[in-house]
Amino acid sequence: MLQAINLRKSYNSLEVLKGIDLTIQRAEIVSIVGSSGAGKSTLLHILGTLDEPDAGEVLFDGQNITNLGRTALARFRNRHIGFVFQFHNLLPEFTAIENVCLPAYLADRSENEVRVRARELLGLLNLDHRVDHKPSEMSGGEQQRVSVARALINSPEIIFADEPSGNLDSKNAQELHELFFWLRKEFGQTFVIVTHNDTLAQMADRTIVMRDGHIIEG
Ligand SMILES: Nc1ncnc2c1ncn2[C@@H]1O[C@H](COP(=O)(O)OP(=O)(O)OP(=O)(O)O)[C@@H](O)[C@H]1O
Ligand SMILES: [Mg+2]
Repeated sequence: MLQAINLRKSYNSLEVLKGIDLTIQRAEIVSIVGSSGAGKSTLLHILGTLDEPDAGEVLFDGQNITNLGRTALARFRNRHIGFVFQFHNLLPEFTAIENVCLPAYLADRSENEVRVRARELLGLLNLDHRVDHKPSEMSGGEQQRVSVARALINSPEIIFADEPSGNLDSKNAQELHELFFWLRKEFGQTFVIVTHNDTLAQMADRTIVMRDGHIIEG
């Protein structure tokens, strides 16, 4: 489903990715681990089209997505890719359901259909009682589940998560991890998860280990 070929990225004289090759199958859950500064987030951002490589290609279902124009890229990302970050990035002025609906409005979907789906997703994530709460009125675990619902609203084929449980206590982290596996079972969702959490890394089908801009395992 996703293939990276010889990805390279530098920031000024700092070489952060030194030729990354990897393949990810549909419905696979892959974790990416490695010490701080190894290049994990940089790789995730490039795979998720949030950043461009200096060299190399990313293919999605065989299509090269590294050279799409701005508009085509934004549309592609909005339809096919979901993101979950360590800091949930919810908009503070909006309620849970409004935050979840936003990416769907950007995709020009009808408001009614989207709100029905958003309620459904929030229900699946045990957030029925928090639909109209703003982020500041929710716990960290609840906020993170809202951000997962937001990542799912456009039914993306692949979800990229960068330390999704980095700010959760162990119980909430555990629940979030179980949620990822349940989503894969229910929806055939594909996940690429950067994590420092050993338990989550080991639950994955496959663990990719990065060191100093290279993949050294996986
Ligand atoms: N926008 C940027 N400009 C300059 N240097 C950057 C930029 N983004 C990342 N770097 C550098 O690239 C290297 C890799 O960063 P990256 O964020 O990919 O690491 P990481 O593996 O995700 O680390 P962590 O586990 O701490 O999140 C680091 O040395 C970082 O300082
Ligand atoms: Mg990082």
